[in-house]
Amino acid sequence: MRIRYLGHAAFEITDGRWNLLIDPFITGNPVCPVKAEELNPNYILVTHLHDDHVGDAVAIAKRTGATIITSADAAYTLADQGVQVADMALGGKRRFDFGLVRMTLAYHGFGPTGGHACGFVIHLGGKRIYHAGDTALFSDMKLLNGVIEAPGIDVAMLPIGDHYTMGPEDAAVAVEWIRPRAVIPMHWGTFPVLVQDPSDFAARVRESRLAEPVVLRPGESYTL
Ligand code: NI
Ligand code: MN
Repeated sequence: MRIRYLGHAAFEITDGRWNLLIDPFITGNPVCPVKAEELNPNYILVTHLHDDHVGDAVAIAKRTGATIITSADAAYTLADQGVQVADMALGGKRRFDFGLVRMTLAYHGFGPTGGHACGFVIHLGGKRIYHAGDTALFSDMKLLNGVIEAPGIDVAMLPIGDHYTMGPEDAAVAVEWIRPRAVIPMHWGTFPVLVQDPSDFAARVRESRLAEPVVLRPGESYTL
């Protein structure tokens, strides 16, 4: 399985059979190394409707026929734009042909036209991958450590950019609570207001010895 970082909160996950795209902010993303036309997902997961997350989701879905998985309100808005949607809501799980998705809490704003921000736990190829979306640190993240997701999370993508989400110090606490095997920082370096350098976060995680920090530059991949 390969997780490719496309910059900001955008990731492509492939297991050889399925191709999943998360928060495809491609066009207008100053650090994204690919063009939207190069991506061919089966599904697109959208954490909320802010432009830096919904991004090119509709255009890619129209071209590829991919289904967009998102919260019920956001799904209602996107369905109006002529794409296939699969709706969920916070706390729910839904089974797809590739595996299972849990929609998790995210403490953040609402998208401009509906939809509480969320995160996802994706079960794919025997692995559990947590994409936190845009969120503050909150202590219910502890539930992902073997309570509602047993035997725990293999890889977590956590925002560290500060200003609009938790920053590096809080994200290091999140690692302590979630105890993923590996953690990939995201939502940094895209814009001047965000934290530009993930090395402080990576050092904190490394010192804690609780998880492997995996710092990806846009375009780089992590294989597990
Ligand atoms: Ni946002
Ligand atoms: Mn954002």
